[in-house]
Amino acid sequence: MSKIKILVSFLGLILAGFAIASSDIVDRIKPVGEVCIEGHECATAAAATIQVASSGGGDVQSNFNKSCATCHNAGVAGAPKVGDAAAWAPRIEKGMDTLYASTINGLPPAMPAKGMCFSCSDDDLRALVDYMVEAAQ
Ligand code: HEC
Repeated sequence: MSKIKILVSFLGLILAGFAIASSDIVDRIKPVGEVCIEGHECATAAAATIQVASSGGGDVQSNFNKSCATCHNAGVAGAPKVGDAAAWAPRIEKGMDTLYASTINGLPPAMPAKGMCFSCSDDDLRALVDYMVEAAQ
């Protein structure tokens, strides 16, 4: 095999690996990346959850994207990811009041007070917790 052939097949492997990795990433971010405009038909359960949550009055989705998504979409510093039932189960067991309290007051060391949404009222924060808990069920 010539050097060029080896190089080409090596490149092919890298590209194949990248394609697998990126489709995996697309799958993982899909439920939270789905945008559902009210009035439009939304096929997925995740989109339905977003619609239910945002119909409560406050703009849960934009608060989430602005403040919580940075850590809770990617699982930064051990943050339980949105839609990750296994990561949320032990937290949900603590009860909603505990989750509301750790969101409002923060949970050292890595969960900041108010989840860094300083324009959020306590009710906005509770709605965000409800949204993440619903997404994990
Ligand atoms: C800087 C990163 C960061 C941001 C921003 C952030 N979180 Fe968190 N969050 C974390 C981490 C890390 C944990 C896990 C903390 C632990 O268990 O020690 C966590 C845990 C939680 C928990 C579980 C608390 C518990 O008692 O188990 C809730 C609920 C939560 N976050 C809600 C939110 C909400 C709502 C927002 C947006 C308003 C938000 N977080 C923004 C990092 C973040």
